[in-house]
Amino acid sequence: KSDFIIAPSILSANFAYLGNEISSVVDGGADWIHFDVMDNHYVPNLTFGPMVCRAVKPYASVPIDVHLMVEPVDEMINAFADAGANIITFHPEASRHIDKSLSLINAAGCKAGLVLNPATTIHVLEEVIDKLDVVLLMSVNPGFGGQSFIPSTLKKISQVRILLDEYARENDRYIRLEVDGGIKVDNIAQIAAAGADTFVAGSAIFGHKDYAKQIKAMRAQLAD
Ligand code: DX5
Ligand code: ZN
Repeated sequence: KSDFIIAPSILSANFAYLGNEISSVVDGGADWIHFDVMDNHYVPNLTFGPMVCRAVKPYASVPIDVHLMVEPVDEMINAFADAGANIITFHPEASRHIDKSLSLINAAGCKAGLVLNPATTIHVLEEVIDKLDVVLLMSVNPGFGGQSFIPSTLKKISQVRILLDEYARENDRYIRLEVDGGIKVDNIAQIAAAGADTFVAGSAIFGHKDYAKQIKAMRAQLAD
């Protein structure tokens, strides 16, 4: 199945050359660009906002996957939709009204998703599953690139896989299962085997000289 998506996280890119960094990974085979928005409130780090998204949009000929690590959430939704976001995901504990935030994303014409931290229960998905296009499971605690994959995430990935397969059978609608944090060439196969179909990788791609080679090496692990 060639339905796997690799989404380089530009958190580990050189911010002084963001446009070129994005062009390089797109040319190197990236399927999505993962855009980590941190506010030094929901997470203890600070990155970039909608203005930067708008500025880099011309360099991203693939969908921009905006991962909001901000609190509150709602004010940022239209701002990012207007700035060229294609997918917007947020952490349920950062929104006071999860269903409403998801509706705002859908109404803005973007794909919507919830992000679950390693300790967040998957039950939060059930009531809003009709509004989800993607479930993003964190395999590290959010805030920083370059952390190690938390092994207990594998079990959670398989649990969500079962939930999403059942949903797809009953509703004929496929929700993507994305995983974020600590994904490398040597563990991506295991993460795929657990049920993930979309893989965020920051340091594993931007930490090496040859981005195309890293993306290719990851994709090779996903073959057959
Ligand atoms: C962490 C971010 C991740 C991060 C992953 O809060 O959500 O997207 O960039 O970085 P690596 O792949 O280095 O773990
Ligand atoms: Zn992320």
